[in-house]
Amino acid sequence: MNYYIGIDLGTSSLKGILADVNGNILRQCSADYEVRYPKNGWTEQNPSDWIAALKKVLKTLTRDCSHSVKGLSFGGQMHGLVVLDGSGEVIRPCILWNDGRTEKQMEYLNAEVGKEKLSGLTGNIAFAGFTAPKLLWLYENEPDNFARIAKIMLPKDYLAYVLTGEFATDYSDASGTLLLDVKNKRWSQEMLKICRVSENQLPELYDSFSVIGNLKREFADELGLTSDVKVIIGAGDNAAAAIGTGTVKNGDCNVSLGTSGTIFISRDGFSVDGANALHSFAHANGKWHLMGCILSAASCRKWWLEDILANADYQQDETAARNADCCGVIFLPYLSGERSPHNDVNAKGAFIGLSATTSRADMSRAVMEGVAFALRDCLEVARQNGVVVQSTNLCGGGAKSEAWRQICADVFGIPVNILTTEQGPAFGAAILAMVGCGEYPDVLSATEKIVKVKHTVYPQADSVERYEEKYLKFKELYPLLKRLY
Ligand code: XUL
Repeated sequence: MNYYIGIDLGTSSLKGILADVNGNILRQCSADYEVRYPKNGWTEQNPSDWIAALKKVLKTLTRDCSHSVKGLSFGGQMHGLVVLDGSGEVIRPCILWNDGRTEKQMEYLNAEVGKEKLSGLTGNIAFAGFTAPKLLWLYENEPDNFARIAKIMLPKDYLAYVLTGEFATDYSDASGTLLLDVKNKRWSQEMLKICRVSENQLPELYDSFSVIGNLKREFADELGLTSDVKVIIGAGDNAAAAIGTGTVKNGDCNVSLGTSGTIFISRDGFSVDGANALHSFAHANGKWHLMGCILSAASCRKWWLEDILANADYQQDETAARNADCCGVIFLPYLSGERSPHNDVNAKGAFIGLSATTSRADMSRAVMEGVAFALRDCLEVARQNGVVVQSTNLCGGGAKSEAWRQICADVFGIPVNILTTEQGPAFGAAILAMVGCGEYPDVLSATEKIVKVKHTVYPQADSVERYEEKYLKFKELYPLLKRLY
């Protein structure tokens, strides 16, 4: 039997799975690394930490079965800026997707270059976490580093580069740079000019299921693999998660409750919403998608339980929150500013509506509801633009919580599917590797065979009604509080 490896290069850890061609997961493991916060609102990681984690995970996954491994691929945290010099050395730490340092550069792009022009060139406007404003920040603040740049790449592309020596990316991840003409799937020459870079500093563009090369011999030897193992470029983590949850047909939806929260709607054709509140990106199946991204999702629950309550008993909290009723407390999840739909690096989190009878369980439940409401904001943008979403898949660490699953179904007012395989991006990456190696003719036939719904959580009419009222209040809060920050 042939085996395939899917790697999810996440924000807090690198996760890997080993799967057979039927999608059975034979092994899984992960290795953690740090996020560094050099200044308030800045987030960075050392690409060498990813490589150490990658080696550890690959060694564990392939022990005793290395000869059966035929291909590997990636889903990677998006938008991060990795820059290499002429000798292939990393110039500075990667600036991550949730870094908020580029407010000035984002303003320049949206106000001076202009949103309309950006949208025409790329299908998107500038958000602080995107790669283009990071390049402008580097040009203005670290000119010596900027002058040394020979290669610009995204996080997962660095892994592919180290493994194969090939300088490549895929359309889904490239979409998040704001340098790609997403509709026509080519680098936008005008955006390159605006960001003072040239096409030869950018990777070759591929479909996510394309083979870009084989494992370099030195790497294969170190890991005990053969250099016949094919490396498939893979996708941004959200597009990979969409593959891993079977979100591939027009109108299919996937919600991910990870460090970030995303709502991903698969589209057969390229489209933008009126105000570009949602991202309009290429999908890993060769088509497109719309996506809303909130910067803090499962990370809100982690902050609440681990940092604030200093009690990481998730199970106990889950039981208490499940028994708590939808009450008057509202949580705004803007702990790292907000991306979609507000595009405001200065947005702040809040608990509103506390009283002497508010319990810890009420607040725990409010945290989960607040994240669901923020994702509902994104869903509403899609709905206002005529996109019909009948149901959604759910993945990411937060999807393990039964209470949160039901809250999502009730707040969105649609059924929520839980898949048999929880590891969205890693599973999607393994599927892309299978397609790249010819096990399946295309992504759709692979997902139809492999991805299975375990069960569906249906919205409950009385809760839907109560959450409708609460959501209207939630929506009023950000505009009211905005002026305080
Ligand atoms: C998507 C985004 C995040 C990261 C998280 O636009 O910024 O979901 O990809 O890894």
